[in-house]
Amino acid sequence: MNIEVLLTEAEIADEFAESLEARDLPEKFFYWQPASVKAWQEIERTSHESLVPTWAALAGRAADLVKGFAGRVPVISFGAGDGSKDRAILKSLLAAGREVKYFPVDASQNMLEMACAAAEDEDCDVLGIKADISSPMHLMLAADVSEAPRLFLMVGNTLGGFDPLDQIRHVAGCLHAGDILLVDGQIYEQETEYPTAQHENWVFSPLASVGITPEDGGMKFAETADDRWEGLYLLTRRFQTARDLSIRSMGRQIQIARGERIVMNFRFRFTREGFHSLLTRHARLKIVAEIPSADGRYVTAVCTK
Ligand SMILES: C[S@@+](CC[C@H](N)C(=O)[O-])C[C@H]1O[C@@H](n2cnc3c(N)ncnc32)[C@H](O)[C@@H]1O
Repeated sequence: MNIEVLLTEAEIADEFAESLEARDLPEKFFYWQPASVKAWQEIERTSHESLVPTWAALAGRAADLVKGFAGRVPVISFGAGDGSKDRAILKSLLAAGREVKYFPVDASQNMLEMACAAAEDEDCDVLGIKADISSPMHLMLAADVSEAPRLFLMVGNTLGGFDPLDQIRHVAGCLHAGDILLVDGQIYEQETEYPTAQHENWVFSPLASVGITPEDGGMKFAETADDRWEGLYLLTRRFQTARDLSIRSMGRQIQIARGERIVMNFRFRFTREGFHSLLTRHARLKIVAEIPSADGRYVTAVCTK
């Protein structure tokens, strides 16, 4: 298994301790420890079934999408996770007789290993890239692993785990003429059943990894419209301590007083119109096709420069 490392485990561990000190945990720490990955996969198993028909439909069109690519098709997936959605595309390209090289890009070693191993099982040539896709420099280095034309993927509402106004511009900046980007967004809906116990368990998992227990405080979820862009909604999660805590992480002793808040990862969601205008008006991408999921909870856009 080949994995190129731009972001080391030691850097992630240091950054985790710094983030705890700053009371602000970004998205990448929610897929870092094996317990977080397990909790995430439990959510995926139950809630993302709705995307299966969309991915089957996209996979059916994959060979046609890249028919203008001469020779090998580079598939670069930003925030690939375990690569389960990407594989529908890879399998379809391989079945169409195309030579494929798959580059899953993720901060999570655990996830990358799964994505690489499963692609190898499909006899697909693969190079994992361990990088921080919130860094424009890492994003560019990962994109430049192969020359254009390339098929980029950013799916599973990975975009919504970052500030989408910044992130989509960084991603668009990696695209050259001839490249194709498949990017999806989760549609905003006023849910009553959210957060589920599975979501709470997953969001809590980085705190559990340093010995914090549910009795040490309470988690609050809140969703508001983001005034910066029409059709953009931000779901925030905060843990408020109910007692004084003393945590040890990477040799640091971190004191968190009762009543303090730790900002957990956030999630952006979109209206259909908001997602469309973000890609076109804000990131200056051209949308070739837009595919809503069967249950209307996601929309996937096929974009070019
Ligand atoms: C919402 S999951 C989606 C995973 C996958 N694309 C799917 O659809 O199942 C987001 C993925 O982005 C990765 N990720 C989060 N923050 C990251 C960062 N700063 N740099 C690189 N990867 C990151 C996570 O490890 C996770 O695998």
